[in-house]
Amino acid sequence: MTTTQLSFYLLCYFINTCFCIHLYQITPPVDHGEGPTWDCRKNLLYFVDIHAGNVYSYEPSSGNLHSIHLNGEVSPVIPSKRDPELLIVGVNRTVVAVEWNGNSSDYQSKPLVTVSKQFPMSRFNDGKADKQGRLWFGTMGYETSTSLAPNQGSLYKITRDNLHNPSVMISPVNISNGLAWNKANNKFYYIDTPTRKIVEYDYDDAGGEIKNGRVVFDLSWYSSIKGFPDGMTIDRDDNLWVALYSGSAVIKVDPKTGYLLQIVAIPAEAVTSVIWGGQNLDVLYITTSRYRLNKEQRLKQPYAGSVFALTDLGTGGVKGFKADIVDEI
Ligand code: BGC
Ligand code: CA
Repeated sequence: MTTTQLSFYLLCYFINTCFCIHLYQITPPVDHGEGPTWDCRKNLLYFVDIHAGNVYSYEPSSGNLHSIHLNGEVSPVIPSKRDPELLIVGVNRTVVAVEWNGNSSDYQSKPLVTVSKQFPMSRFNDGKADKQGRLWFGTMGYETSTSLAPNQGSLYKITRDNLHNPSVMISPVNISNGLAWNKANNKFYYIDTPTRKIVEYDYDDAGGEIKNGRVVFDLSWYSSIKGFPDGMTIDRDDNLWVALYSGSAVIKVDPKTGYLLQIVAIPAEAVTSVIWGGQNLDVLYITTSRYRLNKEQRLKQPYAGSVFALTDLGTGGVKGFKADIVDEI
């Protein structure tokens, strides 16, 4: 750890202590934790281990952790509105319906549609459901530990009606990440990770349309903060909470002013995504990765890859939306 990194950690620790924030490691490390999502009907957290092809469920009340293995790279995982055991999962470039009760090793699956055929090495990365149950799933280009095929991703909107030919909403993008809607449901926030920016769009829920994209936050405005914005969620005060990949932190941003409101240090360099959960939706669940760490780095970051829970943040989330694109598999 460099002196700058150490002072950053110490500063964040000091700030966290002043705010009385608590951070808990709630799962053992996986390889590349991502895509956390909370199901308030079951009080269950889902997340994925992308390259390992695993979908996990975690029950905070019992501490039980279960998983299934799918054939490919998996992300995201979104529970369905009409059937709590039906999940919609991105597997490579295919949207797959998966029937899983969240605690056995048995499941059934059915592919629904494959996108981005022109970029066979690309894959789904992040995604969410909107209020109407339409899915906003984004892709990213092929990535090695040192490079990324640029401009090979897109953000798709997948509905019951366009299931065989999903609409492209934003393209091209590099790494599709960080989706959120404000409480009034008339703004949509989006991140293309390498740009280091958060873009706000006007959002029309009736038609599921976005327009007038403008940058509301750019990490480059803050020279002391390193890393890249990855997964994102929004709180009940309409502030954004953003995971910083290669940044060892989660940040809170006010998209109305562009101000950076808070930095919470996380003991893992690659912080991948965040979601509100818990019975009162006031626990911030955080996924991390150890995918790119070598042996030595893994020893220095023993918690990397774990899911964490942050409490006492003085705010919380609103109920996430569920997928409504198919009734059964
Ligand atoms: C992806 C990773 C990628 C990272 C880069 C994540 O959302 O899952 O594969 O390396 O973003 O910022
Ligand atoms: Ca992500």
